Amino acid sequence: MDRRERLIARARQGYRLAFGVEPSRFYAAPGRVNLIGEHVDYNDGFVLPCAIDRETIVAAGPPSAQSKQKLFEAVALDMGDMASARDSFDLVAPIVRSDNNWQNHVRGVVQALGRYGHRVRPMRIAIAGDVPIGAGLSSSAAFGVAVALACSDYSGLDLAPEMLAKVAQLAENDFVGCACGIMDQMAAAASVADHALLLDCRSLDFMPVPIHHSLAITVIDTGLRRSLTESAFNQRRAECEAVAQHFGVKALRDLDHGKLLLAEPDLDHTLFRRARHVVTEMERVEPIGIALAKGKTAVLAEVMREAHVSLSEDFDVSLPPIDRLAQMVAESLGDAGGVRLTGAGFGGCLVAVAAQEAGAAIDDAIGRYNDEADLPARAEMFRPISGAAPILIE
Ligand code: GLA
Repeated sequence: MDRRERLIARARQGYRLAFGVEPSRFYAAPGRVNLIGEHVDYNDGFVLPCAIDRETIVAAGPPSAQSKQKLFEAVALDMGDMASARDSFDLVAPIVRSDNNWQNHVRGVVQALGRYGHRVRPMRIAIAGDVPIGAGLSSSAAFGVAVALACSDYSGLDLAPEMLAKVAQLAENDFVGCACGIMDQMAAAASVADHALLLDCRSLDFMPVPIHHSLAITVIDTGLRRSLTESAFNQRRAECEAVAQHFGVKALRDLDHGKLLLAEPDLDHTLFRRARHVVTEMERVEPIGIALAKGKTAVLAEVMREAHVSLSEDFDVSLPPIDRLAQMVAESLGDAGGVRLTGAGFGGCLVAVAAQEAGAAIDDAIGRYNDEADLPARAEMFRPISGAAPILIE
């Protein structure tokens, strides 16, 4: 049994245990790692994430024949025992928030579908996943998009990836209370295997960019987690909006680099640095996309190094041990590939895009880092898989 078959088996078994019958359909949506374009999605720019081979699987089936109500029932197999991991709500009554966070991810999706004018049929779902939670690999986007796909497909709606992503984002923004952008949900919904996803976060137009066969994507988990992530994230968003307002533009995507530099003396220095990160990061997306497609590791090394420094020094979302690890991996890789902080930051993971045979250089740097670090870092290679889809079971 491979990884995915094991997950499907777990979702099937959980469904049977919770509801006493076999599920009739299965759906999947992956986690993601962002290769370049960090803190750019909510500034309306271009980003370049790719889906990874870690997924949320949803088993779905009809409601209980005995129930007279129009119920939506869910069980989340990774969220505690059978009692706390179950949820049930009436699709006819207003959907309210729960104290239990995972339930809000489900309820929020069903409510968001309704707000976009789509009606969800009574149904039952069991959810199982292997996207690491809280590591910056978008387990919640995988969860939200998988549930959105299950609800919509089971209800006979044929929704485009953009709509699935918007539904999952609305659920997170309004129901869960996280002001995330659209990148993670779009990566979970629209990715293509062996490609990264070049995404215009304003129009939601997207184009798969091939990842050169000589390259490997390695995620290095620093083990560092910060509890303040959400408020710091929202603060960065507000700072970016303040700069956009200062220049009278809709979003930082519309801000000219030269104009920003000229305005440095008039701008608060923190706000200036935040905007400089976003504006320069947007300029880094295209060269990384080309280098990725052509396997140009020296360009990846140089541009990803700049990206990391920008996140650390201008956007202030790194931590000293992460800078140290990024530097050690970059030095060990040389021109064989690049490494940088990925995701929201404040802890989490580094991503390395490097020649396949440079795996030993990455391991070597991590080994030396772990000899001196309080918390050990861990590397894992991921395969870029495709976005959310129903699973055909023979
Ligand atoms: C988190 C958010 C995304 C994006 C990244 C930073 O993952 O959910 O929308 O803003 O941070 O690039």
